[in-house]
Amino acid sequence: MKTIRASIIGFGSVGRGVARTLIQKEDEIKKAGFEVKVVGIADSSSGIVDPDGLDLEEILKHKDSTGRVSEERLSGIEIIENIEHELVIETTPSDIQTGGVGLENMRMAFSKGRDVITSNKGPLALRFSELINYAKANGSKFLYEATVGGAMPILNLVRETLAGNEIKSIQGILNGTCNYIISRMMEEKAPYEQMLAEAQELGIAETDPTYDVEGIDTASKLVIIANSVFGMDVNYHDVDVTGITKITPEALMLAHDEGYAVRLIGEVKDGTLKASPRLVPLDHPLAVGGTLNVAYIQTDLAGDITVSGLGAGSIETASAILSDIMSLYRER
Ligand code: HSE
Repeated sequence: MKTIRASIIGFGSVGRGVARTLIQKEDEIKKAGFEVKVVGIADSSSGIVDPDGLDLEEILKHKDSTGRVSEERLSGIEIIENIEHELVIETTPSDIQTGGVGLENMRMAFSKGRDVITSNKGPLALRFSELINYAKANGSKFLYEATVGGAMPILNLVRETLAGNEIKSIQGILNGTCNYIISRMMEEKAPYEQMLAEAQELGIAETDPTYDVEGIDTASKLVIIANSVFGMDVNYHDVDVTGITKITPEALMLAHDEGYAVRLIGEVKDGTLKASPRLVPLDHPLAVGGTLNVAYIQTDLAGDITVSGLGAGSIETASAILSDIMSLYRER
């Protein structure tokens, strides 16, 4: 059986979800004709390597009790550079201003010819074409389903299942935090601050929730959709963005009385990208509530397709990463 040696770089909520999923799905992965051996793990302050394969249960326990993966000061980029492996699972937090450590990790991975599967939006929202071209030039595979919509399938759905269709437009709710805030503000008639605090307690908000509520996170995902589905070459600065901070419970109720929900909608259509609060008829497929994400895809052959699912969460995001792992290494 083929063995894929992997590193997990970033061991927060998503990285740990990946480790748990690899343990839980070991047999399913083997049925697909390969096994994954994790040879390196790094968090922001420590790292651990073993070319024979790490004990994931042990490391999860160590991380839970100490907050670190080991006592060794070893960085993710050192692991990517120096440890022989095929796949880098890059799950560090998104930095949308500079691409952050994730961008450096990806560049290093490609320079070593390693494949990359990531949940990190920042580097892709800023440097999409550079990364894709760099991966190609080095013979690396690069998949990133987890960057958009968590467990909700969209990128692979369009590429694989809707292959051959012309995609006319995509509209979506791509940020669970905002959707939770505005749908709960309406239901509870509660102020914005209270609902933001609740979303943070659920663990779905970004470390800096400004990214969520100002529409920055939605815009980043939109850029990834535009580049990957529509073959555009845009970055985060090309999106016309308005967040949800100015929405009041009164405005939501007024809209509701008229038969509408207010939703933060991201849209790619006719070459333009826009993320802003919009009125959506209450019976429209886009009018989902709570932390759900949804995408409404207009195609020439298949008509309108709607997909919905959990856009954040440790295991949900790991599910998207696992599906990328399966699609890269599964025996055909
Ligand atoms: N903060 C994001 C959200 C997490 O609320 O959807 C997933 O990208």
